[in-house]
Amino acid sequence: MAQSRHFETNLIHAGANPDNEYGALATPLYQTSTFIFETAEQGGRRFAGEEGGYIYTRLGNPTTRQLEERMASLEGMEDAAATATGMGAVASALMANLSMGDHLISSNAVYGCTYALLTEQFARFGIEVTMVDMSDHQQVTAALRENTKAIFLETPVNPNMAVFDLAWIGQFAQKNNLLSFVDNTFLTPYLQKPKDFGIDVVIHSATKYLNGHGDVIAGIICASKEQIELIKFTTLKDMGATISPHDAWLILRGLKTLAVRMDRHCENAMKIATFLEEHPSVSKVHYPGLKSHAAHRFIGKQMSKAGGVIAFELNADYKQSISFLNQLSIFKIAVSLGDAESLIQHPASMTHSPYTPEARALAGISDNLIRISVGLEHSQDLIDDLANSLSLINNS
Ligand SMILES: Cc1ncc(COP(=O)(O)O)c(C=O)c1O
Repeated sequence: MAQSRHFETNLIHAGANPDNEYGALATPLYQTSTFIFETAEQGGRRFAGEEGGYIYTRLGNPTTRQLEERMASLEGMEDAAATATGMGAVASALMANLSMGDHLISSNAVYGCTYALLTEQFARFGIEVTMVDMSDHQQVTAALRENTKAIFLETPVNPNMAVFDLAWIGQFAQKNNLLSFVDNTFLTPYLQKPKDFGIDVVIHSATKYLNGHGDVIAGIICASKEQIELIKFTTLKDMGATISPHDAWLILRGLKTLAVRMDRHCENAMKIATFLEEHPSVSKVHYPGLKSHAAHRFIGKQMSKAGGVIAFELNADYKQSISFLNQLSIFKIAVSLGDAESLIQHPASMTHSPYTPEARALAGISDNLIRISVGLEHSQDLIDDLANSLSLINNS
């Protein structure tokens, strides 16, 4: 039934409301670590998988379950697993599927800690990774080896807003029997559904737009039933990146307004990107909503809109770029994105500091690249704030 409803309705109603004997409108919060068995035999049956029912919150919780069912429905996937952080989602999903001797192809620009996971941690466990420019399909094809098991990417990429062709990647993965993983944090299923392009596993930092209020760290993985079962009963169970039920409850609350928030984020971002593109102190704006962006053709097809994150480069050196950040008043200098508050950060020294300078250059993350997450304030106030700080660049 729920499948035929519109996305906005599913944001509010998808997923079974857990056992609610009092008729509460909001999802009940089951803030409990464990669940009482009626008898010792029942406990044994639940552990043996012979009887349904909850056991222990690291293994599952009714509040968390509603979030998982809702997100699975929104991404058009069979099932989902909620996690304590976005990195918990990336690590649990990949490590459930990759073993020593396996090979992964990844985009060369990804979130900084994902880069550290793929290059530093995976190397310790004998998982090989080749990082390529995924807009160059020849590079992707050339990276293929006999032991290649999976392909991983973000689109748009954090932080440089590159966009990759999901239809091509989905087909490439299927043709070569690879599992495909897409981090959909920047757009959310409201603006982009990787499943429509044959992608197997969709990952989110739910810390960002899904929650939307800057008060939770969490993640979510959406995939087939079989894949989610594998992740839940291996890496998630044994490595333990389980979400707190309270955080799941907060995300359920945040999700209800996702569509209206995303529309405003996109509207504000388009106005700001246009302003920045015309400003003489800005040398380049990376925002797929602009006609000048290399992947503008994907708007209205792969992604319905361009989202709320903009990257841009200043006509300025490192010191002037940092001074530009320090002069802002409404934009807060903070990592993260997707909140009501507009945030600004300097990827080379902050979110992408795990990269070596050489890898940063290859990934297109220059020293004067600035990333902003456009919030829900009035766009004119945000433009005035940027204009004021930009006007001070040459004097700093
Ligand atoms: C695209 C992307 N993926 C994953 C993560 C990691 O998420 P978390 O900080 O919730 O662990 C982030 C964090 O910024 C991100 O931007």
